[in-house]
Parts: sequence; C-alpha cells; structure tokens
Amino acid sequence: MEHVELAAADLLLRPWRDEDAPTVRDALRDPAIAQWNPQGRGPIDDEVALLWVRRRADWSAGDHASMAVTESAGGTLLGSVSLHHIHDGDASIGYWTVPAARGRQVAVRAVVRLTDWAFADLGLHRVELCHAVANPPSCRVAERAGYLAEGTLRESYRYGDGRRYDEHLHARLATDR
Ligand SMILES: CC(C)(COP(=O)(O)OP(=O)(O)OC[C@H]1O[C@@H](n2cnc3c(N)ncnc32)[C@H](O)[C@@H]1OP(=O)(O)O)[C@@H](O)C(=O)NCCC(=O)NCCS
Repeated sequence: MEHVELAAADLLLRPWRDEDAPTVRDALRDPAIAQWNPQGRGPIDDEVALLWVRRRADWSAGDHASMAVTESAGGTLLGSVSLHHIHDGDASIGYWTVPAARGRQVAVRAVVRLTDWAFADLGLHRVELCHAVANPPSCRVAERAGYLAEGTLRESYRYGDGRRYDEHLHARLATDR
C-alpha cells in the first residue's frame, strides 16, 4: 500500500517518521496508554519506540495503515490512529492521544477521517472498534465517530495490567448513513 497524508481541518494524519520516536516513547509510558494500548512486556526505551515507529511506517504488507495525528500548523504530534488487520474488506481501528491533546476531540476526528478514507479509497466494507468496558472515554470516541455498539465480548482481551477485561464491540459499515 502507498503512503498517504489525510487532512482533517486543523489536523494532519501522516505516516510515522523516525523523528517521532521520542514523543512515542513518552506517550507509550503514559499510564492510560500503557493500560489500554499495551505494547507487551518490558520497558519502553528509545529502541522500542524507534522500532514501534518503523514498524508502523512500513505499509508494504498491505495489512495495516498506521498514521501519526499531528497539528497541521506546526506539526505537533498529538496521537496515533491505525487500521489493523486489513483483509477482504474488513479492518479494525485503534488510537491514542498524548495527555496534552485530550479533551478536544482529536481522537474522534482522526477516527472519522481514517474511516472515511478506508471506505472511499481502500474500498473496505466493515471496520471494527473494540475497547474495554472499563474505558469510558474510548466508548465516547466510538459513539461520536459513528461506530454502532454491537455487543459485549466477555473477558476478551488482556490489557496492560495483565488482567482480562470485557470489551464493547463497535463497528461502522460503508453502507451506514
Ligand atoms: C480515549 C482517548 C483516545 C480519547 O482521546 P480524545 O480524543 O482526546 O477524547 P476526549 O478527551 O475529548 O474525550 C472523549 C470523550 O470521553 C469523555 N470522557 C473523558 N473522561 C471520561 C471518563 N472518565 N468517563 C466518561 N467519559 C469520559 C469526554 O468527556 C469526551 O466525551 P464528549 O465528547 O461527550 O465530551 C484518550 O483519552 C486516550 O488516549 N486514552 C488512553 C489510551 C486509550 O484509551 N486508547 C483507546 C484504546 S481502545
């Protein structure tokens, strides 16, 4: 898959770059991101952050499209939004925002923009969004981004503290109004 950049008002979604690694290192150490976007065991150091960025910058397998969410003016890195498991018209979406960027709908706007692109340009039909029931801000992001709630998955995912949590499954279809 070819890299793209997507504008969304004052946000720019763009592919990850090596120079994002220090901000990613700090973000992945944030307690809320460590809990709800776990990266596996071990400390998050510069090397881990650089590998994280490079893996996400490599779209060559065609199974993911991972974007840095930045301010279009100035380029400050605000968060992450990614389509994962792209296969046969389906994908799942994930996201986080740095603590300083929260509370201004950055995640909602990034999820809407990437989803619209997934339907219009990748030709996907269904995008799923899962979050822990214990993570209400993420549920608000899903609802505000138009992802309908489809049910509760019981103890379906092991999050950062090593415990299994119930999750809400949400999804958007290309044919949703
Ligand atoms: C979830 C997250 C991405 C939302 O980021 P954001 O775009 O900045 O969203 P906001 O801070 O505007 O909050 C989104 C909504 O959650 C609500 N919210 C915030 N804290 C809340 C809480 N403790 N309980 C209930 N709702 C809460 C906000 O009021 C807002 O709702 P509104 O739009 O109706 O006002 C961000 O908090 C984050 O990165 N969290 C840690 C990682 C994470 O949870 N990732 C998602 C994994 S599925």
